[in-house]
Amino acid sequence: NKVYKIAAIPGDGIGIEVLPEGLKVLQAAADKHQIALEITQFDWASCDYYLEHGTMLPDNWFEVLKNFDAIYFGAVGWPDKVPDHISLWGSLLQFRRRFDQYVNLRPVRLLPGVPCPLAGREPGDIDFYVVRENTEGEYTSVGGRMFEGTEREFVLQESVFTRHGSDRILKYAFEMANNRDKKKITVATKSNGVAVSMPYWDERAEAMAAQYPEVAMDKQHIDILCARFVLQPNRFDVVVASNLFGDILSDLGPACTGTIGLAASANLNPERNFPSLFEPVHGSAPDIFGKNIANPIAMIWSGAMMLEFLGEQDERAQTAAADIMQAIEKLLLSGPKTPDMGGSASTQEVGSTIAQYLQSS
Ligand code: NAD
Ligand code: IPM
Ligand code: MN
Repeated sequence: NKVYKIAAIPGDGIGIEVLPEGLKVLQAAADKHQIALEITQFDWASCDYYLEHGTMLPDNWFEVLKNFDAIYFGAVGWPDKVPDHISLWGSLLQFRRRFDQYVNLRPVRLLPGVPCPLAGREPGDIDFYVVRENTEGEYTSVGGRMFEGTEREFVLQESVFTRHGSDRILKYAFEMANNRDKKKITVATKSNGVAVSMPYWDERAEAMAAQYPEVAMDKQHIDILCARFVLQPNRFDVVVASNLFGDILSDLGPACTGTIGLAASANLNPERNFPSLFEPVHGSAPDIFGKNIANPIAMIWSGAMMLEFLGEQDERAQTAAADIMQAIEKLLLSGPKTPDMGGSASTQEVGSTIAQYLQSS
């Protein structure tokens, strides 16, 4: 019986509030299905750690974390203490890159019991995945600043689209679309305005599409794609996007399903050479930190994604993941909800109720 070794990193802000709820639910699911979890918590990758040590991570972070099966991550960033580009490039973005977690898989699903901000939409109308490139693209620190403080001051920010990086994310997304009933893929682009990287991205998408004759590909510029997320969310199945476009779409999608407090994500290294990382889509939410109203479901759902990925060959882990999803759905239908879902429950009430459902089912 395998022992799953999990590194738990709360980070900052509501990361500290929602991670314990995620662990509570994971443990309840593990106990129920006799899954062995070994959880080790780290205080790195937080702005307080940075203020104390002058760095977000210890020198040996890579050596330490690479021995885990997965990383279960809260959120990082507290811009009043540490500039965001320093805290994020010093932690989460390093994990994604160094562990080659090139797939950021983000489900967008309208669930029964959650008020939908789009008129006339029912559960079932919105059910798709954003597959976001997670290691390159518009996210780089390549560039520079010149003539600082003068009128000629300028900054240059480069993007990087490699053939390897574009092809592997497109392949993942096409494979996924090919294995689903609808066999539909939407490729986010902006090849009308972004004249170098996006025509290349389109070209790689065309080349991949040629290998998947059963998948219907639809290329859409990011601007109208955003509009269609709101107006026609039922038309999507798998949406593949570059790093920045995928980032934007994966807040917009969940907002269309009621709240980003439900949005889960998996940062996957599909080859399993390194640990994958599971985290909510949302950030540290300084505006609600300490009020005990953060929705822990994005964190809990990310835990289900973790069990599903880790236990690909392990029926018990698959069942446990499915059980967590069922317990989440039960709560959304009839249980206590946090204010972002129209309720008045606390973070702990939601977490504990979901854990109880698991214990009693
Ligand atoms: P955010 O996602 O933290 O918050 C945006 C809004 O959504 C806020 O009003 C917040 O209260 C609300 N919200 C977020 N999560 C919620 C939850 N679980 N329940 C209820 N409401 C929730 O985005 P932001 O304000 O742009 O960023 C705050 C900090 O978090 C910044 O430092 C940013 O860089 C960082 N950040 C980190 C991650 C990450 O670690 N993956 C993701 C996004 C932002
Ligand atoms: C996310 C976040 C991060 C991103 C930030 C915090 C760097 O917004 O995971 O979506 O842009 O990838
Ligand atoms: Mn984001």
